[in-house]
Amino acid sequence: MSNQILKGKKGIIFGALDERSIAWKTALACVAEGAEIVLTNAPIALRMGKIKELSVLCNNAPVIPADATSMADLDALMQQSMEHFGGKVDFILHSIGMSPNVRKSIGYTETNYENFLKTLDISALSLHRVCQSAMKADALNEWGSVLGLSYIAAQRTFPGYNDMADAKAVLESIARSFGYHYGFKKKVRVNTISQSPTVTTAGSGVSGFDAFLTYAEKMSPLGNASAEDCANYCVMMFSDYTRMVTMQNLFHDGGFSFTGVSTAIVEDITKANS
Ligand SMILES: NC(=O)c1ccc[n+]([C@@H]2O[C@H](COP(=O)([O-])OP(=O)(O)OC[C@H]3O[C@@H](n4cnc5c(N)ncnc54)[C@H](O)[C@@H]3O)[C@@H](O)[C@H]2O)c1
Repeated sequence: MSNQILKGKKGIIFGALDERSIAWKTALACVAEGAEIVLTNAPIALRMGKIKELSVLCNNAPVIPADATSMADLDALMQQSMEHFGGKVDFILHSIGMSPNVRKSIGYTETNYENFLKTLDISALSLHRVCQSAMKADALNEWGSVLGLSYIAAQRTFPGYNDMADAKAVLESIARSFGYHYGFKKKVRVNTISQSPTVTTAGSGVSGFDAFLTYAEKMSPLGNASAEDCANYCVMMFSDYTRMVTMQNLFHDGGFSFTGVSTAIVEDITKANS
């Protein structure tokens, strides 16, 4: 179902690696709602992933490589995107996450600090870089929308999430802080969506992910939000219907974040104890 709520809008989508990626589904949803987009990812991800297939599905959207930790790459991306669109951009999806400590199964208390800094640089500071690069180039139209994707480990401890929890706390803080400055300066809004656990390359790398997924499903009154649901929420956040929403971390998790315990979990434990 499409209501063309992004008709005439132009956006940059970071982070579509393969068809499971939240950014992949969001790119498709934005185009279905009438947007024109540019796709981008780290050069290595472009070589290994399937983004060319996505480009075809998105009316041959240009694919521009950019490592989100490189200001030079981001500045070039802003310029090339504006050249392509023949003007400014209305929305940016930052759908980027990577932890070398998670990848190498190095536990939180034994962390490797070089890896930790990379986690923060790739998964959190990159949102600041994206906003700074866009602001410097004056790449976003007034009432533009920048969105990052977060996880509730920013507020509560999920031990397997490792240093990504700290990265998400910083990411949400950057959305708040940059949102303040971007709002006053250019009427641009900056938010994060805190999504349910979702089966993707980044998601599945977290230790105990399957247990996470089942636990969250049983705890959430509406069940886990899918990547498609998340894509639809992103579309709404890019649309004019959410013009006055900024500096927020928005839970998109079927009610998980505000549920203390569910009957299903109580029944499981009662059964296990009997
Ligand atoms: N999957 C989940 O359970 C879940 C839950 C909540 C939030 N999120 C967040 O959603 C976002 C998207 O993740 P996903 O689950 O779709 O997984 P994904 O693996 O499909 O996407 C992660 C993307 O980050 C990109 N990336 C990594 N390093 C980069 C760099 N240096 N420069 C540019 N791009 C880089 C990867 O190439 C990949 O496309 C992440 O921020 C993730 O933390 C995921």
